[in-house]
Amino acid sequence: MSVLRGKKILLGITGGIAAYKTPILVRLLKKIGAEIKVILTENAKEFVTPLSLSTVSENPVLSKFKDDDENWNNHVELGLWCDFMIICPATANTLCKMANGNCDNLLIAAYLSCKSNIFFAPAMDLDMYKHESTKKSIEKLVSFGNILIPPESGELASGLVGEGRLPEPNSIVDFLIAHYSKNLPLKNKKILITAGPTLEPIDPVRFISNYSSGKMGYRLAEEAKRLGASVCLISGPSNETFSVNTIDLIKVKTSQQMEEEVMSRYNNSDIVIMAAAVSDYRPKLYSEKKIKKKLEEEDFSIEFKKTNDILFNLGKLKKKQLLIGFALENNNEIENAKKKLKEKNLDVIILNSLNDEGAAFGHDTNKVTIIDNKLRINHYDLKEKRFVANDIFQYIIINKL
Ligand code: CTP
Repeated sequence: MSVLRGKKILLGITGGIAAYKTPILVRLLKKIGAEIKVILTENAKEFVTPLSLSTVSENPVLSKFKDDDENWNNHVELGLWCDFMIICPATANTLCKMANGNCDNLLIAAYLSCKSNIFFAPAMDLDMYKHESTKKSIEKLVSFGNILIPPESGELASGLVGEGRLPEPNSIVDFLIAHYSKNLPLKNKKILITAGPTLEPIDPVRFISNYSSGKMGYRLAEEAKRLGASVCLISGPSNETFSVNTIDLIKVKTSQQMEEEVMSRYNNSDIVIMAAAVSDYRPKLYSEKKIKKKLEEEDFSIEFKKTNDILFNLGKLKKKQLLIGFALENNNEIENAKKKLKEKNLDVIILNSLNDEGAAFGHDTNKVTIIDNKLRINHYDLKEKRFVANDIFQYIIINKL
């Protein structure tokens, strides 16, 4: 029996081409026993008709505060009636209205009145999706506790290819089921993840670091959360944000700070994933004063000292934890990764190669090979980092690691 059976769902549809997918979404939700009421904005009617939605939902479709018979459509009652609300597709305009409480239609009024979970599924052209204003709206909504159903990458209605496509209705239903499922595979697991680069200061204005964006670690944290775990992410400097707001985020700068934060939580963790690109070296001496340029000298050198290998230390102290490391290689990849797996006493190592186009640092995509301590080797295709994160957890779950 589906966890969505008997759930009362208020579906708000706004005016984007992806609205054409919503009758199928309603059908799928009805099929698994949910009850649906639909609010359609005036613009959405250009893309999907009230008749098709009232037919599949078996309920009247609402658009205005007052219907043609002068009956008042009570937005407060609608907002309180539902077990959860989905705004799908959510256009850039509606995201902005939701984020700013710009209540000029029934959908936004119901949104503002709704006390239960609110999911929103943005869908628009890639440049609109990437625009700072859209990003800000999404961040604000996530900070309100609304739940983002992330758009997919692919061909868009404009013919352009990129992020902004509404996921297929069955993926949206899976997302909702995963959210409400009591038997999530990582339930009761405490997962500690590191992300991003570390930054090692030279003087008050300079530092040494690396190109890591933090994307892989953030996507792993989101995926672990989606699969039911309690998640702590320790992140070096990164511009990444979450699509969920229930992840414990600790921001650090240096490898030493990262090590302290990781170590203090290690005993209490079931799974530890070191996705951070920790600096291997830091300046031996930190200069309190800004180092001045010497006009007469062409060369300048800084002496570096090795940082602690956090993962190596975790491997030494390992008891019950499942310990996962990353290996970034550009030659003799498999052998080097196996060596790290053994030397650092890991259960799994995720290899990414600098030779693969679109993989590793800075990209939204990655191409990994998973090697476990039985030396089983599994190669994966290039894909978005959130799907790579899913592959990694599925590997752990399926192999009962
Ligand atoms: N790591 C760590 N502490 C360090 C360096 C690396 O915990 N000081 C972890 C990384 O988070 C990663 C794994 O070790 O999970 C491997 O990192 P990588 O940079 O690939 O390898 P290194 O061990 O640093 O070796 P090399 O740079 O020589 O390849």
